[in-house]
Amino acid sequence: MDRCFVMLKPGVLNRRIAGEVISRLEKKGFKIVALKMMQISDELASNHYAEHKEKPFFNELKTYITSAPVVAMVLQAENCVQLVRKFVGATKVENAEPGTIRGDYALHTNINIIHASDSNESAEREINLFFKPEEIIDWKDESSVWF
Ligand code: PPS
Repeated sequence: MDRCFVMLKPGVLNRRIAGEVISRLEKKGFKIVALKMMQISDELASNHYAEHKEKPFFNELKTYITSAPVVAMVLQAENCVQLVRKFVGATKVENAEPGTIRGDYALHTNINIIHASDSNESAEREINLFFKPEEIIDWKDESSVWF
């Protein structure tokens, strides 16, 4: 099974929509195999967004992601990264279709509410950055026939 790292950003707790967004991911059928709320350090933010460190918005991105706790999770499904990315929607708000999470919950790209890995390689790197192996639980899924 493939895995994807997903992070609900600080706006989610501020807006009291954590349950709503997690519920949408669950209803789609993604299996949550790890989940925790955490305050990201400046160091972790820099590592996570390392590929963007030359971008003009790098500091703004770090300030936002460290401004309040995030909810980090690992989702599991066949073709998980592709399916989650489609479900989450485009990064730029003007391209995020209604019906996607970004399309439904964000007016500004710089304070969007969710991050999802963009490839299997990124997923592996990000999962290792945020979770210890023992925090990931591939539980026996009695309803797997549906998904
Ligand atoms: S780029 O320029 O195409 O490489 O950027 P992109 O891959 O689309 O986005 C990388 C992450 O940076 C966030 N982002 C921004 N933050 C602040 N200000 C601006 N203008 C901005 N543009 C993009 C974007 O939300 C991505 O973060 P994640 O966590 O993946 O959503």
